[in-house]
Amino acid sequence: MNATAVIVIAIGAAVLLGALAFMTLARRSDVRGAGALSAETVRRDAAARAAHPDEHEVPTAAEVEAEGAEARTGVALATIDEDTGLTPWVPPDPDALGVSRRQFFNRATISLMAAGLGTFSAASFVAFLWPTKTGGFGGKVPVGRIDDIRSGISAGDGFFYAPEARAWITEYPVDAVPKAEAVYATSLLPGMERGLIASYQKCPHLGCRVPQCVSSQWFECGCHGSQYNRVGEKKAGPAPRGMDHFPLEFSAAGEVTIDTGTIVNGLPIGTNTTGQEAEGPHCVGESDH
Ligand code: FES
Repeated sequence: MNATAVIVIAIGAAVLLGALAFMTLARRSDVRGAGALSAETVRRDAAARAAHPDEHEVPTAAEVEAEGAEARTGVALATIDEDTGLTPWVPPDPDALGVSRRQFFNRATISLMAAGLGTFSAASFVAFLWPTKTGGFGGKVPVGRIDDIRSGISAGDGFFYAPEARAWITEYPVDAVPKAEAVYATSLLPGMERGLIASYQKCPHLGCRVPQCVSSQWFECGCHGSQYNRVGEKKAGPAPRGMDHFPLEFSAAGEVTIDTGTIVNGLPIGTNTTGQEAEGPHCVGESDH
């Protein structure tokens, strides 16, 4: 499962659990303060009084409730002391204290939801951040069989582009390998010995994507005019070095992998192991920068 799918699932689960939590919290509790009457009870009291204005023997719901509370606690519900004008203290109804069953279940539900959501979010976050070492840029990107790559270079007029690796693969002249051995990183030599080199598309000047120029058979950056020969060695412009490279790896079956997790810095200005000059008109002029 890729990171995007994990994020989508995590967001969906978060929205669902959030909605459930909201509905749970939004439900009104039936628990009221001791002595509180519901709106329906109050209406019935009023209706009973209106129907029997002179029949004092008909107890109201409040009176019934007061009698019940007094029977449980032995203390009459609060009434104002006529002598002091104060309301005597009445011990609270034990049933109204503490956590009611509904409150307990509400809190337990929300706590379990929060714990589940937190665990799921943490797992998704870790999965998202966990580096993937294969398949995408930053890891080892398979780009096909070596024969297919050579065919791709021919079909691309000298340049094979691997978008997943953000890299160009071009031919490296095998007769120049002895020169390369003296200046290039050893990790690049297996590719060179097979006549291939992978160059990072990012311009070492300010990071623009460097396109190929078929007419000159160089790479020529349209941002500020840096130019590199076909193997990425700096020829002109403001770039501080040649194009960066990635090592190529080859399986016994001839499958090629670009190791984009290993960026090899381009060589200094003046490096010219292939001696390749421009083979036609340039695509961009050299910048004055
Ligand atoms: S970014 Fe390529 S020359 Fe400036």
